[in-house]
Amino acid sequence: MKKFLLIIVSVMMLITAVGCGQTKTDTKKTVNPVKRDQKIVGVLMPHRESPRWIKDGNNLRYEFEKRGYKVDLQSSDNDVERQRSQLKYMIDNGADAIIITPIDSGALSDVLVGAKEKNIPVIAYDRLVMNSDAVSFYVSFDNKAVGRLFGEYIENTFALNSGAGFCNAEIFSGSASDSNAEVIYEGLLEVLQPYIDNGQIRIPSGQIAFEETATYLWRKEEAQKRMTNLLNSVYGNGTRLDAVICSSDVIANGIVNVLNNSSLRPIITGQDGDLYSIQYIVAGKQAMTVFKDSRLLADKCAHVVESIFNGTLPEVTDNMTYNNGEMIVPSYLCEPILITKDNIKEHLLDTGYYAPEEVGLSE
Ligand code: GAL
Repeated sequence: MKKFLLIIVSVMMLITAVGCGQTKTDTKKTVNPVKRDQKIVGVLMPHRESPRWIKDGNNLRYEFEKRGYKVDLQSSDNDVERQRSQLKYMIDNGADAIIITPIDSGALSDVLVGAKEKNIPVIAYDRLVMNSDAVSFYVSFDNKAVGRLFGEYIENTFALNSGAGFCNAEIFSGSASDSNAEVIYEGLLEVLQPYIDNGQIRIPSGQIAFEETATYLWRKEEAQKRMTNLLNSVYGNGTRLDAVICSSDVIANGIVNVLNNSSLRPIITGQDGDLYSIQYIVAGKQAMTVFKDSRLLADKCAHVVESIFNGTLPEVTDNMTYNNGEMIVPSYLCEPILITKDNIKEHLLDTGYYAPEEVGLSE
């Protein structure tokens, strides 16, 4: 049935408008599972070092339980071997569908063979699973758009397109093990490369290739280490630093920590809308974040699984771009949102994602 569905999905190429509708999911609410023919959905989140993955896991649990499924939610704590065994356990122990955010996008291929043999739908959640033909669907945000939002923010802040602006910047990308990281980097350079070429943007460290900017496992400690080295080797002599373009809030957090002990006050970008980053934006320590609403993604993911269970076609927004090395994975991509101090209320408070007092904005 899975195979049949995928063929139809591929053939029909249902390209529909990008973007998710707002849902009213409350992460704090729990739902009593309905006892119908109860299917088990395995959910594998990569780690708990960033609050977003805890929220994502809880929202997925909520959305699946609401629909009457039993949820087996696990975090792999950034340990690739642990994630592989958790996945194997789910495949061997009766999971009817598996939602997975890989730690290492290419490290699951051999384990996933078992899922394919048992016809278990596998949904790549937020990060694409590479080198496997066992992936039924990809639900995520448009990662290239995330990178472009960083780039456009820098372009606007430093008035680069007037031809007059100038900016000394450093780039802190995500983990090379996560296929999202390079896509975000590509989106960023799509906007900034012309300014790097004409000298309006300078990267004083000279570290500009993706590999040079990557942050192992998106870890704060890794970002702190690299920033500390740069402070000593590049910025010790009074060189200006105007922007640190960080691909996630955890990385941004590490940069804020290191720069707190220096006189440099560049603008800092981030991604995810983690609570401490929103507090930093309110306090002026971080300039912006790119928000990916996990309520929307969890809802979309549950819709996809439910469609597959019911033998109907999940809605697809992209059936061309996400080639994982083995297949083109039908995808549903949501639009990320640029958050600055000016729209925190609209996107994060009015929608109930955070309470005003949590972020330091009492109404
Ligand atoms: C990436 C994701 C980012 C961020 C990061 C940190 O895959 O695209 O939004 O959450 O993981 O774990």
